[in-house]
Amino acid sequence: MKPYGIKKTEFVTSVGQGADYPAPLPCEIALVGRSNVGKSSLINCLCGSRRLARISQTPGKTRLINYYRLNDEVYLVDLPGYGYASVGKAERLAWGELIGTYLAGGRPKHLFLLLDIRREPSPEDRQMFEWALFYGVPFTLIATKADKVAKSARRTDANRVAKLLGAPPYAIPFSAETTEGREELLLQIAQIVGDRPR
Ligand code: GTP
Ligand code: MG
Repeated sequence: MKPYGIKKTEFVTSVGQGADYPAPLPCEIALVGRSNVGKSSLINCLCGSRRLARISQTPGKTRLINYYRLNDEVYLVDLPGYGYASVGKAERLAWGELIGTYLAGGRPKHLFLLLDIRREPSPEDRQMFEWALFYGVPFTLIATKADKVAKSARRTDANRVAKLLGAPPYAIPFSAETTEGREELLLQIAQIVGDRPR
């Protein structure tokens, strides 16, 4: 299998609770993970763009479900991150409702679950993992900010966070700074696109 070749990328739309989703495509991949873990950065890195998805020093930047389209055939869906401390109860509930509705709706064909390579998975990370299992959505674990640990430790540290989550002990070490792991992710996308029922 060859890595997925991205020839065209575009932002499609932002969706809030109760709003309309864009017309479905055969392949929809959703990115989930705590706030600040690097979801938007990963999208930009994959797409070879600095500005496609909004990135910020302030956690909680992405509050809506943002749809990006690759080659007119794949959606990459940037979900709002969870777990930022400053958020109130009402907003946490709104987040749960938005994500819950999305996941239960059956649109995502695959989840990219992002975990910081240096941190223990949080209770919300475990909940996301449980949801993936509950809804039967295939997932790929991605250990982000791999540039923050020594090269020699990356593979083992990535696999360690997967193990701590209670998942099969494999995560792709990824860095949006150095693009490490980009090829492996593109291979994964090629596989996901190829797997879809025709
Ligand atoms: P929310 O939108 O709040 O859910 O966050 P997010 O998961 O989209 O994170 P985002 O991509 O906005 O990145 C958050 C911060 O982490 C930014 O300051 C990024 O520059 C930084 N960051 C993201 N990826 C990497 C990486 O691979 N390496 C390093 N060193 N920093 C990164
Ligand atoms: Mg974001």
